[in-house]
Amino acid sequence: MFGIVQLMCGIFGYVGNKKNAAQVIHEGLKRLEYRGYDSWGIATKVKSQKSKVKTTKEKNGFVVEKHVGKIGNRKLGSKLLKSDANLGIGHTRWATHGGVTIANAHPHLDCKNGIAVVHNGIIENFLELKEQPIKKGHVFVSKTDTEVVPHLIEENLTHPHPNPLSKGGGEGRFTGAVRDAFNKLKGLNAIVVVCSSSQEIIAAKTGSPLIVGTSDREFFVASDVSGIIKYTRKVIFLEDNQMAVLGKNLRLLELPWGKEIKPKYNILEWKFEEAEKGKFEHFLLKEIYEQPRVIENIALNYEGEAKKLAKLIEKAFGTFMLGCGTASYAALFGIYLFSRIAKKHINFSIGSEFNYLENYLTSKSLVIPISQSGETIDVVEPVEKAKEKGAKIAAIVNVLGSTLYRQADYKILLGAGVEKAVIGTKSFIAMISVLLLTAYAYIGGEDLGKKLLLKTAINVEDILKDSFIAKIKKLAQELKNKEHIYVIGRGLSYAAALEATLKIKETSYVHAEGFAGGELKHGVIALIEKNTPCIVMASNDETYDDIVSNAQEIKARGGLMIGIGPKDNEVFDRFIETEDLKEATIIPQIVISQLVSYNLAIIRGIKDPDKPRNLAKSVTVK
Ligand code: F6R
Repeated sequence: MFGIVQLMCGIFGYVGNKKNAAQVIHEGLKRLEYRGYDSWGIATKVKSQKSKVKTTKEKNGFVVEKHVGKIGNRKLGSKLLKSDANLGIGHTRWATHGGVTIANAHPHLDCKNGIAVVHNGIIENFLELKEQPIKKGHVFVSKTDTEVVPHLIEENLTHPHPNPLSKGGGEGRFTGAVRDAFNKLKGLNAIVVVCSSSQEIIAAKTGSPLIVGTSDREFFVASDVSGIIKYTRKVIFLEDNQMAVLGKNLRLLELPWGKEIKPKYNILEWKFEEAEKGKFEHFLLKEIYEQPRVIENIALNYEGEAKKLAKLIEKAFGTFMLGCGTASYAALFGIYLFSRIAKKHINFSIGSEFNYLENYLTSKSLVIPISQSGETIDVVEPVEKAKEKGAKIAAIVNVLGSTLYRQADYKILLGAGVEKAVIGTKSFIAMISVLLLTAYAYIGGEDLGKKLLLKTAINVEDILKDSFIAKIKKLAQELKNKEHIYVIGRGLSYAAALEATLKIKETSYVHAEGFAGGELKHGVIALIEKNTPCIVMASNDETYDDIVSNAQEIKARGGLMIGIGPKDNEVFDRFIETEDLKEATIIPQIVISQLVSYNLAIIRGIKDPDKPRNLAKSVTVK
């Protein structure tokens, strides 16, 4: 699920009439931190000669600060605090190797400290690109691929290449130098660049997301909307192969040649408060508590979307649902749901495996990518290939303007609001609510689906009451020192079992594995010892008797059996009761497992469950 090389990061840039660019960027990075938190850094341009800052780099136009670790509540250093810049860039980094060091932290500079660059993506040909600058005497100080970019720009500024499309050299030296350097990069990349001799910042992208926000005489650029929503709702989602030149005004250029194009503005509906923690200690908890509203919103407002998607499924000759991680479990739930409610076969694939199943696609196929961020490369890439085969794409995503949103012929926005915790919660609940409504709409039963979701929202509300939470805390306490937890389910609750184990693992770092109830006896039962905890997702449906039998098999080997569902049984040593919500029973089962995971993390002393180690929210590398 997580990329094996390089970076997935948060980028932020500002240019405008504020004289505290450093603070604006610092705040923006805090909101983007969930995209990566190995190191962070900011570079601002020194605006006035009277600035109190006296550093070597200031002579060349920049004040730069870099730190290893999370930005968290870290304050700005005095140099940036005192700078009166109205322009700058910042970055928060996610790396798996290449060293979490100050030298590898962004922004990266050229030899003269006159160009600063932040980057998200992988420059596949960076070794090759480095050869020329190294021959010319450029000195590289980091192990990153990014650092080649400022050096290429530096070279281009010294030896500009004329642009045949820019008559009379009207393009501007800085713009031409960045454009030319960016055109050389292979891979999926987004960069933001500042230059000491220019009052503009330049953003360009081929794969990773970049959003430009604009308000009165100022521009923001960020990896996602949560970074800029405090300042403006008027945004442009940069398309691949576009470059934005931001200064006194905005120029949008098409790559490779820089032909000017007309920007398309969008007005965001999300509220700023959605990106704040409010009274909650962690975003994760806040987002778990938002779930009743998320379900209710879908019940009340998504009938039209569900009917339309149901029609597309009906018309298609072969439908495929896909996603990664948590979203893949939503897709898995979707196929069980369609089989049960709509008596309709739908295919399922994990995003990264779909490339190998695409031989089946034709122009009559329908592909339904499911994704919170809409940026997961393991979904984006196979969807692009499916499009090439003529398949129709109906995307279910949470982020307006994201890559999958733009790739799709038909789109359903989940409306779950900004999800800041790296761990997916409310977006998953929104995904399965939309799928449930769509399966009911397929048989003309959207009213039944709506009623079921509204009843579910009330049940989830009850689960979030203090008396219920007390039971969950008690269970979490009991699980505190366990090394392994198993979770089993059958049918619809099989997806719940898989999702529950992912939540436990990434939140509390306790090893957990989810299985179809029938599978354990085929091998994994060998791992059951006295008091090994095993959670049983026991729905009151056709799976009940069989899952109880599986629970008996585990109990006979010493397992500590914890049932979650509407119907208790003597096999369970512990039992957490939910309402019987038919197909929607998976929702309380999931919410309970989210709460168990969160409380387990807190009891085990995990400081920041919003940002589990090694992860990043938006996985934009393969
Ligand atoms: C886990 C989690 C991840 C994501 C996965 C796909 O809690 O959130 O497993 O579900 O990385 O991300 P999206 O939904 O953005 O495509």
